[in-house]
Amino acid sequence: MRLKDKVAIVTGSGSGLGRAMVHRLSEQGASVVVADIKQESIDTVVAELQQAGRTAMGYKVDVTNRRQVQDMTKSVAEKFGHIDILVNNAGIVRPRPWLTMDDADWDAVIAVDLKGVFYCVQAVAKYMMEQKYGKIVNISSVAGTGAAPFGGGGSPAGNGNYSSAKAAVIHLTKTLARELGPHGITVNCVAPGFVVTPMTYTTRTKEEAEKHIESRKKACVMNRAGKPEDTANAVLFFACDESSFVSGQLLCVDGGRIDRM
Ligand SMILES: NC(=O)c1ccc[n+]([C@@H]2O[C@H](COP(=O)([O-])OP(=O)(O)OC[C@H]3O[C@@H](n4cnc5c(N)ncnc54)[C@H](O)[C@@H]3O)[C@@H](O)[C@H]2O)c1
Repeated sequence: MRLKDKVAIVTGSGSGLGRAMVHRLSEQGASVVVADIKQESIDTVVAELQQAGRTAMGYKVDVTNRRQVQDMTKSVAEKFGHIDILVNNAGIVRPRPWLTMDDADWDAVIAVDLKGVFYCVQAVAKYMMEQKYGKIVNISSVAGTGAAPFGGGGSPAGNGNYSSAKAAVIHLTKTLARELGPHGITVNCVAPGFVVTPMTYTTRTKEEAEKHIESRKKACVMNRAGKPEDTANAVLFFACDESSFVSGQLLCVDGGRIDRM
């Protein structure tokens, strides 16, 4: 058990990659907080975890709301007495060709994918600094490591708003690693490649999604789409003490994306 007696908050864990993360972290002994904006998804995942005998708490939170994030953090600290791990995973996409992207498309993605990280780290780091221990893992994307134009993946893929937010998360990781490191906190980043999750279908028809999945398989040397567990395993490494001398790092979990090599 690599995370015995640890407490982990995973944002956006009512679905997709975040759901796999709370399963993986709790399997290793952590008590997990399923923090998501959708109550129904929270209830489903908390029930799955409890059925498997894990300790799980659900919390409905919008990561773009500073007050809600602070209230969540306080509730978790009151319930468990400490917060050891924070995974900033909540994210959305709004693919638009650059010239038709409006303020709402830009602001929505930046608010969840970047500002949410700002709010969550500020709220949680306060507790981690007091206990002189903490592991923060930010979820970026391979779309944040290079150009990600609209339609670049064969159908609407990443693009200006999303890739800007995800690139900023990579940079923020390095800055936070330096500011928080002296307080016993490591800050690292995971950039998943293409993984089939509900997000795959958010902005595509079923037919477009299938075409996209095929094109993404061909874009990596492993010739397959990622599984949520692939990302969860990388998060586990950064969340446990086997990575105690690792901070400010980016790990791409993308099956060897040819266009990033
Ligand atoms: N799926 C991929 O191929 C892929 C690739 C690279 C990076 N990512 C990143 O991984 C993360 C998870 O993506 P996913 O594919 O599991 O997507 P998903 O849509 O399945 O899950 C995202 C979760 O975030 C929650 N969420 C959205 N807005 C929120 C808010 N304001 N406050 C709290 N929760 C909110 C949603 O309710 C949902 O449960 C995202 O940050 C995404 O950008 C995904």
